[in-house]
Amino acid sequence: APSDPDLVERARAAKAALGDRVFVLGHHYQRDEVIQFADVTGDSFKLAREAAARPDAEFIVFCGVHFMAESADILTTDAQRVVLPDLAAGCSMADMAVLAQVEKAWERFASLGIASEVVPVTYMNSSADIKGFVGRNDGVVCTSSNAETALRWSFEQGTKVFFLPDQHLGRNTAVLKMGFELADCVLYDPHRPGGGLTDEQLRGAKVILWKGHCSVHGRFSLDAVEDVRARVPGVNVLVHPECRHEVVTAADFVGSTEYIIRVIDEAPAGSAWAVGTELNLVRRLALAHPDKQITFLERNVCYCSTMNRIDLPHLVWALEELVAGRVPNQITVDASTAHYARVALDRMLALP
Ligand code: 13P
Ligand code: SF4
Repeated sequence: APSDPDLVERARAAKAALGDRVFVLGHHYQRDEVIQFADVTGDSFKLAREAAARPDAEFIVFCGVHFMAESADILTTDAQRVVLPDLAAGCSMADMAVLAQVEKAWERFASLGIASEVVPVTYMNSSADIKGFVGRNDGVVCTSSNAETALRWSFEQGTKVFFLPDQHLGRNTAVLKMGFELADCVLYDPHRPGGGLTDEQLRGAKVILWKGHCSVHGRFSLDAVEDVRARVPGVNVLVHPECRHEVVTAADFVGSTEYIIRVIDEAPAGSAWAVGTELNLVRRLALAHPDKQITFLERNVCYCSTMNRIDLPHLVWALEELVAGRVPNQITVDASTAHYARVALDRMLALP
């Protein structure tokens, strides 16, 4: 639906009033009505770098989800304030790894005598607490665009990796990019005693995957891939690595949202694509490339509901509050957590 013209005008006016004092970041999964006001759009890796590269902006308005705003707070200066237009914009995957559970797993590794050889790696899609844990324990953050590099770095530091919280990104990267066997990976379930793993399984594993997943990408199915191949001759299947292993294995191209955009940009006219990622992005890609046939991989997968919490009314409210001299929905990470989370984030930003 087209945006409410009154709200569009108010957003424009508030941004103009704030000028360079505000910088608006927009993740690729945001609604059209919000993305039109982003100064920069990107995947989570690009947005983390953009946040760190704007020390002069007094306010960073983050149109994305909570863990992204936390990372922005960690990577910006103390004087800068990070605003999340709706505090309910969380991430179900990030919520699947709670610090107390992760510490319990680590204690188990320690009691087995393997903790010193395990390198913790957390996907960007995790709370600042988890990033802090990883930083304290000599690990690294990764995103979907650098997971392979981060895993290679980790296997130079130790002999095992503990990958949080997305089992799919961890498994897909280990098996499809690094040549591990599926049998080298075990799944640690925080809701089962001992993670549901025997001592032998933990000792033998190369990659210990946390049992978390994305509630959007986890829903794409192998059936959908087979179905679209049967319906659309010559179709290219392009998916995000948060999809299940069988889906990624059956796809033709796999990568982060920035990668997906680049592949579609470079695709020849007339080519056909079935894209397995969040619907706002797929819709925009289809509209921007009328000369290519772009479809959504699976009909019954929907928007990321928490990304969609950020809508134009919330953005207008946040901007107008800033104009009025108040800082709404500020996201702050406590100093000690931020320190160690920054260590893990800086390690990621320094990867080749
Ligand atoms: P990227 O932005 O790293 O592609 O991750 C996708 C995602 O699910 C963000 O929430
Ligand atoms: Fe979290 Fe998935 Fe939504 Fe990204 S798309 S914010 S990983 S639930």
